Amino acid sequence: MEAIEELERKVKQGAVPKHVGIIMDGNGRWAEARGLPRLEGHREGSTSVREVTRSARRLGLQALTLYAFSSQNWSRPPDEVAGLMELLRDYLLKERDEIMDNGVKLNAIGELEKLPKYVKEPLDALRAESAKNQGLVLTLALSYGGREELLHAMRALAARVATGAMALDDITEEAVTAALWTNDLPPVDLVIRSSGEHRLSNFLVWQSSYAEFLFSPIAWPDFRAKEFAEALLHFQTRERRFGLTGAQLRQAGT
Ligand code: IPE
Ligand code: IPE
Ligand code: MG
Repeated sequence: MEAIEELERKVKQGAVPKHVGIIMDGNGRWAEARGLPRLEGHREGSTSVREVTRSARRLGLQALTLYAFSSQNWSRPPDEVAGLMELLRDYLLKERDEIMDNGVKLNAIGELEKLPKYVKEPLDALRAESAKNQGLVLTLALSYGGREELLHAMRALAARVATGAMALDDITEEAVTAALWTNDLPPVDLVIRSSGEHRLSNFLVWQSSYAEFLFSPIAWPDFRAKEFAEALLHFQTRERRFGLTGAQLRQAGT
């Protein structure tokens, strides 16, 4: 097995994506396959969060966005939702020092007002404390849905048009992008989903239109720095054409 240092060295020789989004899926099945409660899978998944975040820092990514809890996940059994919320609180309290020591800027997107106070408070505190950090921007998508985000943006833009603050023709691609919760993030280059499911499940719906997708069969609790580096190496083999022909791209590159 190749050492992680060697894999990461190879990644750094190529183009490292600026912004990677991860749909961290498969915690429940990972636990069920081992006869454990689903929450144990979520707990193990938080170790993957830590490892992959560290790797993203070592590799020099600008932004890492982790889909931790969807707007639709509120409909799961109440004890699973409560367990996830407690894990989130633990994560925010435990990771504080590592985030601050490494200049990570913690960010969050989603319908954050729906989060319980015991999550919202440590989240807001760490966001404020880390706001001026200049390193990796780590965004947690929490109580997040891409459609919900688009609805929020549409309402905000429509309100401005209704009051006359904005003309209809000013609703451009740039204006929509700027009205999203991700407005201060670079475009997402790569979306990774673990655990073998091949769908977006309401993640970064607008933002991922020209992202590359990588679906890994590995469940999130087993997805660590090695799997992350391998995903980035695979990303480097892709040709992003943005509607052009391969020949046009090669010409523009010379
Ligand atoms: C992802 O794992 C974490 C959340 C959605 C909160 P799942 O809990 O969806 O795990 P599976 O898909 O049931 O295995
Ligand atoms: C998507 O996973 C949400 C997160 C990973 C947080 P789900 O497990 O909720 O998605 P579906 O239900 O399989 O589409
Ligand atoms: Mg799932």
